[in-house]
Amino acid sequence: MRIVDLRSDTVTLPTPAMRQAIFDGELGDDVMGEDPTVNRLEAMAAERLAKEAAVYVPSGTMANLVCLLSHCARGEEAIMGHMAHTFLFEAGGSAAVGGIHPRTVPNQSDGTLDLDDVEAAIRDPNNPHYPRTRLICLENTHNRCSGAVLTPSYMAQVRSLADRYGLEIHLDGARVFNAAIALGVSAAAVARDADSVSFCLSKGLSAPVGSLVCGSAEFVRQARRQRKVLGGGMRQAGVLAAAGIVALETMVDRLAEDHTNARRLAEGLVQLPGVLLDPARIQTNIVIFELAPDAPSAAGVAVGMAAHGVKVGVVGPRRIRVVTHYGVGSDDIDQALTVAKAVLEASPA
Ligand SMILES: Cc1ncc(COP(=O)(O)O)c(C=O)c1O
Repeated sequence: MRIVDLRSDTVTLPTPAMRQAIFDGELGDDVMGEDPTVNRLEAMAAERLAKEAAVYVPSGTMANLVCLLSHCARGEEAIMGHMAHTFLFEAGGSAAVGGIHPRTVPNQSDGTLDLDDVEAAIRDPNNPHYPRTRLICLENTHNRCSGAVLTPSYMAQVRSLADRYGLEIHLDGARVFNAAIALGVSAAAVARDADSVSFCLSKGLSAPVGSLVCGSAEFVRQARRQRKVLGGGMRQAGVLAAAGIVALETMVDRLAEDHTNARRLAEGLVQLPGVLLDPARIQTNIVIFELAPDAPSAAGVAVGMAAHGVKVGVVGPRRIRVVTHYGVGSDDIDQALTVAKAVLEASPA
């Protein structure tokens, strides 16, 4: 039975060109700055994001943590959405490791933070009762908001708010290239108004490991130190970075295919009994849908679909997430819809 794995774009496997690049990569000690392949990847990332510098780290979680630690001192506050990956799914690292106080404001369903909510959350720096606000964190595309895309014009509004209060902006751009492809602009345009950007090579871009932190040269110097603090300084990391170079060179434009597949999946799912979803809102590769009260539970649907070779993610008692990626073709979308139909039509609530 062919398995269609829609749980996440993190399940992607390296392409043959990546495996060859891993084999061929020229190596050195990256902690000493001497791995030519890592150096090349970092230079490419900085150039793609139009930032002065970049540093390679093992994961998206470490990328965000390195950024927060570089922006904020202990006891300082970072404003972020209540559905931000950094808030929900990074094990509280910024608080645990950095003593950084997360201040959440509601994410709107389009992934944005309402500017009035953000402004209201900014602390008076002269009041000694308060932590000092230092940072605003945004996420683009927004994972828990069904892959929603923040536009450069929204980002510019957040920038002018941040500037009025002397704050910095971090962008969790784990899927920044999905955002760029959906918007039809460069990743640099998406990242323009952020002081720091993290992005992942190991999601839709299909590299096996790795993320990059991009920002000013001074910021990246700080980030490199924080990476070392966290134990993320790797030695002959060019073995991994080699695949990242291939990811940037060959895997960005094809993300459009994942977006088309996700939209088609959403359009098919909404025809099925008990599925609540607005396909017009699907902009990238993530589809989150609700199950109506008279439909089976999310766990029941996931188990039923897995029995027919289609794996989906359960993200709430009545909420399922499906993600398209390099390992999912158009035929797989057909198979997923056939299986979803069979399961939803057969299962009692
Ligand atoms: C928006 C976002 N940020 C950060 C991460 C963390 O990446 P990693 O799994 O590489 O730590 C993820 C992972 O899914 C993500 O979706």
